[in-house]
Amino acid sequence: MPRKSATTATPSVPGGDDRRPNHAAGAGSTVPTVTLGKAVPANAAAVAVPAFSDRLNKVDGVRKAVLDRAGFAGRVGQTLVLDDGDSARIVVGLGPAAKVGATALRKAGAAFTKALRGHRRAAFVLPDDTGDLTQAQAAGAVAEGVVLGGYRFDAYRSQAPKKGAASVTVVVEDPRAARPALDRALASADAVTFARNLVNEPGGALTPAVFAEAVTERASAAGLTVEVLDAKAIEAAGLGGIVAVNKGSVHPARLVHLTYEPADPLLDEDGDPVTVALVGKGITFDSGGLSLKPADGMMDMKCDMAGAAAVSAAMCALPALDVPVRVESWTPLTDNMTGGDAQRPGDVYTARNGTTVEVLNTDAEGRLVLADALALATETKKAAVLDLATLTGACMVALGDKIAGILGNDDELLGDVEEAAEVAGERVWQLPLPADYRAQLDSSIADLKNIGTRFGGTLTAGLFLQEFVADGTPWVHMDIAGPAFLAAEDGEHPKGATGFGVRTLLALLAAWGEDVTDQVDAED
Ligand code: BES
Ligand code: MN
Ligand code: ZN
Repeated sequence: MPRKSATTATPSVPGGDDRRPNHAAGAGSTVPTVTLGKAVPANAAAVAVPAFSDRLNKVDGVRKAVLDRAGFAGRVGQTLVLDDGDSARIVVGLGPAAKVGATALRKAGAAFTKALRGHRRAAFVLPDDTGDLTQAQAAGAVAEGVVLGGYRFDAYRSQAPKKGAASVTVVVEDPRAARPALDRALASADAVTFARNLVNEPGGALTPAVFAEAVTERASAAGLTVEVLDAKAIEAAGLGGIVAVNKGSVHPARLVHLTYEPADPLLDEDGDPVTVALVGKGITFDSGGLSLKPADGMMDMKCDMAGAAAVSAAMCALPALDVPVRVESWTPLTDNMTGGDAQRPGDVYTARNGTTVEVLNTDAEGRLVLADALALATETKKAAVLDLATLTGACMVALGDKIAGILGNDDELLGDVEEAAEVAGERVWQLPLPADYRAQLDSSIADLKNIGTRFGGTLTAGLFLQEFVADGTPWVHMDIAGPAFLAAEDGEHPKGATGFGVRTLLALLAAWGEDVTDQVDAED
């Protein structure tokens, strides 16, 4: 028998002894499975008992005195585990009955999964009152919460996790009627899982080529058209910003271009398919380049491709959700490093649309790769273009780490994004694009410089991007620097990668051409 110190120093990896993770990029996580049932399965070891904060005397089989004694008030996401030996009842708070909706049910589903601990088989009995939601919609919201809240990224642990994935039955009156809503919820939650997995991958593992391969595989399987530009093609296409950022790296850049064609596409007044463009920042690691970040600021910078991950993951879910509008995505991929030929502060490059840019701070690199992608995306007619990017620390200063900033040139599109985010349970807040701040980006030797003054950094970043959106194209930029990657879990959003933006995009695109808020009513 080996000595104890030897075994602890080199944990064995199942399936190999070289200690390399044996998972594909975009995989490596555990999430609960969710099914529908008409009754609590006999083998369920834990059952959720939903409780409204203003109906604590009507909680099924639990006396109010028990709840009071435990300090259980029925707040959204509050749980109380009542364990009687091998089976547990878990009281789950839903807040006030009058306010019950997708958000409360999603948070309840997430809280329930977390409270399960060891129990593998569980059931969630829907409350008899689901407010404006049908049972099917309520089941979808609970399922979404269960999957999103039960996510675990184990890809790099040497020991297989002790707890396997939980299996949760959502109990509804008519499982067949609830099936389509459940399928949609699971397709969207699965897209979030994929985005999270990509973002949680270390920057040294998820190079641009590995990212592009993982997305190619999933997108092809989903039936999308995939085009990947390699470093040579990127240079040939005049994508100067991507080339400039990639100069400091040993890993060649990529640009992934995906296309989703709906079976029965919405047509515009000319009879052409209405096309929405998505763009995502894909910096696989941001060291800052020669304008190097301090150690603390670099620690989480594997998350700097979260925009590209959210866009790619959402694209792959469009067929399953039967989205009515044609969608194309562009995700520029490179890391931002300090190699011998890295761009220097003061260097000038020419962007895809001919604009020359003086790079005074190499850590403002996201806007350089997005600029090329936005120009490319809007070269042909688009009904709208949306970009998602972990773009500025300033956005976290302004809004904290739970709320994304949105900026854009079209009030209607901004309003639609706000509504879609609300439906999805992702928080956004609009920030302005003040025309007079644009002068901060005047360069003394080129058309533009890539930084403004110390203050309002999210706004000048937005103004920079606006220069590359073709005139007349409605555009919204989402700065997801805060909510893409969390220091601590928050309801259905886990610590680390959250997949923020995926569900807002899906809610927006699924309802394209209709009122987004009608989605909830239109589903039954
Ligand atoms: N990727 C960062 C922004 C970021 C910061 C994302 C924290 C997530 C968490 C971006 O490339 C960056 O470095 N922005 C600079 C811009 C500045 C140099 C004008 C920033 O925010 O400091
Ligand atoms: Mn940076
Ligand atoms: Zn960055």
